[in-house]
Amino acid sequence: MTNSALFFDASPVASFVVDTRHMVTHFNQACALTLGIAAQRVIGRKGIGWVFHGDDRPMMADLIVDDLMEKTVNDLYQSTFRCSLKVPHAYETEHFFPKLGQGGRWLFFTAAPLRNAQGELVGAIETLQDITERKVAEDALMKAQLEVEQIVEQRTSELGTVNQTLRDDVRRRETAERELQSRNNQLQALNSKLSEVKEHLIQSEKLASIGQLAAGIAHEINNPIGYIFSNFGTLEGYLTQLFEMLDAYQQAEATLQATPAGPALKAKREAIELDFLKEDIPVLMRESKEGIVRVRKIVQDLKDFSHVDSNPDWQLVSLNQGIDSTLNVINNEIKYKADLVKQYADLPEVQCMPSQINQVVMNLVVNAAQAMGPERGKITVRTGLAGEQVWLEVADTGSGIPPEVLPRIFDPFYTTKPIGKGTGLGLSLAYGFIQKHHGKIEVTTELGQGSTFRVTLPVKQPAAAAAPSPT
Ligand SMILES: Nc1ncnc2c1ncn2[C@@H]1O[C@H](COP(=O)(O)OP(=O)(O)OP(=O)(O)O)[C@@H](O)[C@H]1O
Ligand SMILES: [Mg+2]
Repeated sequence: MTNSALFFDASPVASFVVDTRHMVTHFNQACALTLGIAAQRVIGRKGIGWVFHGDDRPMMADLIVDDLMEKTVNDLYQSTFRCSLKVPHAYETEHFFPKLGQGGRWLFFTAAPLRNAQGELVGAIETLQDITERKVAEDALMKAQLEVEQIVEQRTSELGTVNQTLRDDVRRRETAERELQSRNNQLQALNSKLSEVKEHLIQSEKLASIGQLAAGIAHEINNPIGYIFSNFGTLEGYLTQLFEMLDAYQQAEATLQATPAGPALKAKREAIELDFLKEDIPVLMRESKEGIVRVRKIVQDLKDFSHVDSNPDWQLVSLNQGIDSTLNVINNEIKYKADLVKQYADLPEVQCMPSQINQVVMNLVVNAAQAMGPERGKITVRTGLAGEQVWLEVADTGSGIPPEVLPRIFDPFYTTKPIGKGTGLGLSLAYGFIQKHHGKIEVTTELGQGSTFRVTLPVKQPAAAAAPSPT
C-alpha cells in the first residue's frame, strides 16, 4: 500500500474514489463503517450507486467523470446540490437514503474530480458524512419552531380576541361612566331643586304659622285700637272744649280775685302749672295719636301678612305705572338719601293684585333707602319682560347684606334696624304677596357694594288662581 493509500484509508472522513470507467478504486475504513459494508465488496466493482440506492443510479463521482454533473445532478439530487464554496469544480449535496441503515440515513456528500500531473481527469473522489442526527434535530427544531409559531399565532389571535373584548369592555365602561355622570348631574340638579323646594316649604311653613299667630293678634288688637282711635278723636274734641272752658275761667280769674275762691284758684293754677299743661297736652296728644296710627299701621300690616282681609282682586294693570305711583308716595323717604333711576321696559299688562304689588315695591324701595349710609346713594328701579314673565328689580348702592343676616331677611319680625324703625315685616309680607302671585323674589348682594332684589311675576295667573273667590 502506498503512503497516500494509507492516509486515505486512515482518514476519519468516509470517502471513496471511482476511476473514469466508474470502477471503485478506493473505499476507506470510515466509509465502510458509516455504510456498514466491507471494502472488498465494493473495490474493483463498477458502480457504487447500488450501495446507497439499491440500484445503479450514478453518484456525484460518476457524473463528474462523465462530465454530466451540471446536466444531470439536479434531476438526481434535486435542489440540494450546489457547487462547493471552497474548492473549484467540487460539488456538495445532501440526500436521504431510505434503504440505508434502520429507517434510512441522511448523508452529506462532497465530490471532486481527480487529475494526474498532466491535468487529465483520472477519476473522482466522493466523501460522505452521516448527518441523520443533525437532520433529526433540525426536523425536531423545525417542528418545535412550527409549534411555537402555531402557539404564537394562536396566542396572538387569542390576545386579539381578548384585546377586542377588553376594548369592548372599555367602551361599555365609558358608556356606563358617561351614563353615570349624566345620572349624577341629573341627581345633583334634582337635589338642588329639592333643597330649593325645601327652603321654599320651610319659608312657606314659617309664614303660615306666623300668619296664624299674626291673624289672631291682629284680630285681638284691631278692636281695642279701633275704639282707642275713635275715642281719641272724641277725647281731642273734649279737650278742646275743656281748654276753652279753662280759658273762660282764666279770664274770669281777675274778677274772682276779691272772692274767697279767687286766691285758691290762682294757687291751684300755679301748682298744676296750667300754662305748661296747655302747651304740653296737645303735644302729648299728637305723639299719642302718631303712636296709635303706627300701631294701626302695624295691625294692618299683620292683617295683610296673614291675608285676613284677603279679598282677591285680580286686575290687569300696568306694572310701570303702579311702580311710579308707589314711588311718588314714598318719595319723601328716598329724596334725602338717594338718587332714583328708572329703567323701564315696555311691558304687557300684568294680571295682579295691584295693592299688594305696590306694597312689595314700597317695601323694597324703602329698604333700599334705609340701606344707604351717610353718603348719598343710588336706587335703580328696572323692569323687563322674559317670555311669559315680567320682572322688576330694585338695586341699591347701600350697605349690602351680611351673610349671617341673608338667610333670615324674609323671616317675619326679623329686623336689624333700631327699635321703632323697623318691624321686620316688610320682606316677609313681600314674600307672601309674591308667592300668592305665583312669582318669586330673589336677592343678590355684596357687602359694602349694595343689594339687588328681583321680583318675577307671571304675566297671566294660572286659571284657578285668578278666579274670583267665593265670598
Ligand atoms: N336693600 C337692603 N339692603 C340691606 N339690608 C336689607 C335690605 N333690605 C332688607 N335688608 C335687611 O333685611 C332685614 C329685614 O327687612 P324687612 O323689610 O323685612 O324689615 P325691616 O326693613 O327691618 O322692617 P320694616 O320693613 O318692617 O320696616 C332688614 O332689617 C335689613 O337688615
Ligand atoms: Mg323693610
